[in-house]
Amino acid sequence: MTSLCRRTVLLAPLGYLVACSTARWYRPPPSKDGVVRVPLVELEPDGFVQVELGHDAFLLQREPNGDLSAVTLTCSHQGCAVSKRRDELVCPCHGSRFDLHGAVLNGPATEPLTRYRVVVDGTTALVYRERA
Ligand code: FES
Repeated sequence: MTSLCRRTVLLAPLGYLVACSTARWYRPPPSKDGVVRVPLVELEPDGFVQVELGHDAFLLQREPNGDLSAVTLTCSHQGCAVSKRRDELVCPCHGSRFDLHGAVLNGPATEPLTRYRVVVDGTTALVYRERA
């Protein structure tokens, strides 16, 4: 079972509709300080990894200038799980689409997806899950 299928199975009983995505998933070990640590080797060659946190998730991505950014994969409309589709984030519940930085491309969502601050520490990305 791929990690995507595992996520679908885990979230389905909670009412989440999870569309299949081609992006890789990473599940970090639990964190005591709330900071999510993602080894940089987890980024795919195209610079993306979806990070699973139990019933939440975010997309970590490498920007063209080499910086890293992170955006939640929880829809700002009613909280469904969005997933990466090529160069967009798509919500399967009501069809909202977002760019890869969380800006709304079309609704019904009207608010952007929450972005998180990312700091690189050696070979690890530290993701602070308060708003960037
Ligand atoms: S919950 Fe995502 S569009 Fe409604």
